[in-house]
Amino acid sequence: MIANRDRRQLANGNTIPVIGLGTWKSEGEEAYQTVYSAIKLGYEHIDTASVYGNEVEVGQAIHDSGKERSKLFVTSKLWNDAVTYQGAIEALENSLSRLKMDYLDLYLIHWPNPVAVRENWQERNAEVWRAMEDLYKAGKVRAIGVSNFMPHHLRSLLESAKVKPMVNQIKLAPGIYQEEIVKLCQKEGILIEAYSPFGHGEVFKQEDLLDLSKKKAATPAQIALSWSLQHGFIPLPKSVHSERLKSNLIKEVISLTDEEMNFLDHLPDMGDAPNPDEKNY
Ligand SMILES: NC(=O)c1ccc[n+]([C@@H]2O[C@H](COP(=O)([O-])OP(=O)(O)OC[C@H]3O[C@@H](n4cnc5c(N)ncnc54)[C@H](OP(=O)(O)O)[C@@H]3O)[C@@H](O)[C@H]2O)c1
Repeated sequence: MIANRDRRQLANGNTIPVIGLGTWKSEGEEAYQTVYSAIKLGYEHIDTASVYGNEVEVGQAIHDSGKERSKLFVTSKLWNDAVTYQGAIEALENSLSRLKMDYLDLYLIHWPNPVAVRENWQERNAEVWRAMEDLYKAGKVRAIGVSNFMPHHLRSLLESAKVKPMVNQIKLAPGIYQEEIVKLCQKEGILIEAYSPFGHGEVFKQEDLLDLSKKKAATPAQIALSWSLQHGFIPLPKSVHSERLKSNLIKEVISLTDEEMNFLDHLPDMGDAPNPDEKNY
């Protein structure tokens, strides 16, 4: 049994609710309504990013929900246009101003290798990280981390970091199990958030997973989220429908055997995680 208030601990001792609400591709009134409903349904963890273009609506919904700020865990991410120390400081100020907040619970470097700095991403990340460390020390962000970092990006950052990233948010779903980076994060004590925990909706088309969910008398969403939680990840499911929002905040982890976990790790036809060294942004 898990309660929606169950939390995992970050390396700095802060805690994070085990399931978060994803908000990518949710904009305007839809983003507002989704976040507002989700908080009313019991979500305490909201994931946004400056590039999603919805921080204003996410922040407004949080304020209007009447939920105490200290009872919520809010994450945003620094986008690829921030490539310098000062750029990173300003990016956080702009996110806070759009969200109408005075701090974030978690701030992440969204992407390790922006196309504009492809020749010197190592320096950009070290520089931006220095700013993140200062924002963390100043209390503007209560935890700092990265997203889409593969082993070579993480190892490079760890060479100069004074504060170790506390989170790596990466694409993880049945059939998209990035074992090498998962193992490295676990070894370094970096908590892993699973973005696109339904493979952006692909899991619902996989006959093998649908069969397993019937066998376990569970929904496919429950199976995918249980796979994530059993691996120790923090899944960030996204939905704009209140019934799905409610059911995605699962109350019970379906216990999966080693064989079932292994089967889900290697579920075919789910595609791959994006390659941050090749994407054109
Ligand atoms: N750091 C990064 O680079 C990065 C990248 C991608 C995503 N993320 C984060 O991860 C979050 C989730 O990822 P995602 O948005 O790609 O996709 P996802 O959560 O894997 O899947 C969302 C899709 O599944 C559908 N869905 C949700 N719950 C369902 C249910 N119970 N039954 C059937 N269908 C269901 C949704 O439809 P409806 O909305 O119509 O219900 C939507 O089409 C994002 O919103 C974002 O916060 C981060």
